[in-house]
Amino acid sequence: MPGADRDWWRQAAVYQVYPRSFADANGDGIGDLRGITSRVPYLVELGVDAVWLSPFYPSALADGGYDVDDYRDVDPRLGTLDDFDELVAALHAAGIRMIVDIVPNHSSDRHEWFREALASPRGSAARDRYLFRDGEGPDASEPPSDWTSMFGGSAWEPVGDGQFYLHLFAREQPDLNWGNREVRDDFLTTLRFWSDRGVDGFRVDVAHALAKDLTYPLRSHAELEADKLAGDGAHPLWDREELDEIYAEWRAVFDEYDPPRTAVAEAWVEPHRRARYAAPTSLGQAFNFDLLRAAFGAESFREVVARNLELTRGTGSSNTWVLSNHDVVRHATRYALPDDASDDGAVAREWLLAGGDPAALDPERGLRRARAASLFLLALPGSAYLYQGEELGLPEVAEIPDADRQDPTFFRNAGVDVGRDGCRVPLPWTASGGAFGFGPDGSTASHLPQPDWFASFAVGAESDDPGSTLSMYRAALDLRRRLQGAEELEWVDTGSPDVLAFRRPGGWTVVTNFGPSPAPLPAWAVGREVLLASGPSVSLAEVAGETTVWLR
Ligand code: NOJ
Ligand code: CA
Repeated sequence: MPGADRDWWRQAAVYQVYPRSFADANGDGIGDLRGITSRVPYLVELGVDAVWLSPFYPSALADGGYDVDDYRDVDPRLGTLDDFDELVAALHAAGIRMIVDIVPNHSSDRHEWFREALASPRGSAARDRYLFRDGEGPDASEPPSDWTSMFGGSAWEPVGDGQFYLHLFAREQPDLNWGNREVRDDFLTTLRFWSDRGVDGFRVDVAHALAKDLTYPLRSHAELEADKLAGDGAHPLWDREELDEIYAEWRAVFDEYDPPRTAVAEAWVEPHRRARYAAPTSLGQAFNFDLLRAAFGAESFREVVARNLELTRGTGSSNTWVLSNHDVVRHATRYALPDDASDDGAVAREWLLAGGDPAALDPERGLRRARAASLFLLALPGSAYLYQGEELGLPEVAEIPDADRQDPTFFRNAGVDVGRDGCRVPLPWTASGGAFGFGPDGSTASHLPQPDWFASFAVGAESDDPGSTLSMYRAALDLRRRLQGAEELEWVDTGSPDVLAFRRPGGWTVVTNFGPSPAPLPAWAVGREVLLASGPSVSLAEVAGETTVWLR
């Protein structure tokens, strides 16, 4: 059982499970809760402290489950509430905590509230739970403004009676009205519902979007874009001041529990605004995606780490580090593209869009750099958020036929963005056999097609290979647990612009050579014990190119 430590989250290694693509217990090609339960021993061996479970709620999957029909139930294709309880019990028995994703900005259009809103007249209490507004123009057929959704196209959908509803994401994801007391109360009920079932924390989807100001006149899309980065709390859609009040109510619920429930905000805000979400009176922690967007290089990595340590200092929160998740091109592939490509993932998305030509990639280099970056990340003070499959060094799957694609980003941005399916392909567990062991024996079903090359990244292929990425992650997570001390880091001089080094309390020292060729180990490091290395060739005097070493 996890202990009563209130601070367990501060430096936890949190492993994100995208439930439909992790493990399939019944062979229908869709990962499910029993599948995850059956793999708890794998998570124990890997050495993670917590699992973050992406949405598993009933959903039509218009957005991979981020379109929730019912916040207090399990999608029947994924299991039942009893299966959920069994999963939590199995994780807890193994000392692993459980964080669930909560999606408060929008429900799905199949949620009973939204169906009621559609069946009710304009001005009704049912419509007030969402953001309905009258159409413009003589016959009210024009949307209330020219705002666009994050997945492309208008952010307003007509409902046939002269009104439109706002959806910042897919049209199947109507935005809730957080000015409505009933909406607020219902989410408090949901937080208690899962907390009572033993959930240890929450990952809060688009946490910066809940509060909105839709008073007229509505400003134009161009004006809003220009104001987006102001970070002054006055933008009508993002990062508004009223969020503090909403999350203070959530915090009061978290604190009803012992240990208090935790939360991490997904808030795409200016770095200096993150602390609002991460405050102990608010959600407690916020994702920092800066490393994920940084180019692979000593200068950019150092700048990101230093800035974030500074931003977090004195906030009461801890740092968060991320290289991959279910929304971005996997880092083994981002780093396999040419040098200028890792920045912001834009080049990676272009590469996917152009058909993912393997000739543009250097996969060995991608994996080498991914391993070096991961070992760098795993030594930083704060929480490490890992995405399923990165421990296998799994690359992005580019070769998904259009007919098999699922992501609304693809459908609403034809020819502009292929979307996020390539990082959501079911995991390979065995090198041979149907669906690479994703399902039970004999099953060949997989809701997204797995490429043949998955075989060499299978858990079964890597498990007993001491040089594999999986073995590196296992060793790193084990050492991290034992070496982890105060949340401090001290930079150490290396004498080389390509080589970064830092020391954690207790003498744990990390050296990363971001350059392509071997660099001499700094004099102070020569002769130290090598605890772990991301690449094979560490001699006593030098560190190989694009390699991280942990020393003591
Ligand atoms: C962020 C989630 O990570 C992403 O997958 C989803 O599409 C949007 N929020 C909308 O819920
Ligand atoms: Ca299944």
